Amino acid sequence: MPTATGKIDEILTHTERAARISCAPGMVPAPGQYLLAHTSADLLPVPLFLAESHPAGFYAAAPLPVAWQPGATLHLRGPFGRGFSLPTRAARVALATFTPSAGALLPLLDFALKHSAAVTLLSDHLPAQIPPRVEILPLSALPQAALWAGYLALHLTRADLQTRLPALLPPPYPAGFAQALLQTEMPCGGMAECGVCALRTRRGVRLICKDGPVFDLREIQP
Ligand code: FES
Repeated sequence: MPTATGKIDEILTHTERAARISCAPGMVPAPGQYLLAHTSADLLPVPLFLAESHPAGFYAAAPLPVAWQPGATLHLRGPFGRGFSLPTRAARVALATFTPSAGALLPLLDFALKHSAAVTLLSDHLPAQIPPRVEILPLSALPQAALWAGYLALHLTRADLQTRLPALLPPPYPAGFAQALLQTEMPCGGMAECGVCALRTRRGVRLICKDGPVFDLREIQP
């Protein structure tokens, strides 16, 4: 697995893009994929998700460790995992985050707008610096958005998958109905098979770090 060093060029606050990171082009994760990153002071690596591309690297999605400072060297491994696959023909795109940041969904938003799709972003935390063409709705509007959308992407935790999501959108979910990025701790990225990220799915136990972190929602429905 490729390893490299990168640098934190800029820390941003009150935005979905938490930091601008310079690195080799081959280290930039695709939407929904991740890098494992740590500074020399960190005990465990943290997953970095793409929020936006940059000519010298990328903007990483919030949140990031508060101790990280501009100028710090990052030790990077990856990219890891399976990301999103947004069809270019999707004319109506709904993106819903159950987490405080919509950062990891932003690449889908940019992609959809470039392909002239109508985009709705659902979040209970008002996202910053979102293009005015994007409709922003609370998560409670998810049932209506799911009926409207031709493509639905979710960002949620394992607990959300068991509780908040079924409360809004009761299963069963048909195959291809939605893709879900599962947020969880992924300390080894599958390299040591630590099992921290193991998840019971319709096809047996899967590792979120390796078989995800993006899954077809039907595969992981509770
Ligand atoms: S993070 Fe160790 S197996 Fe997934």
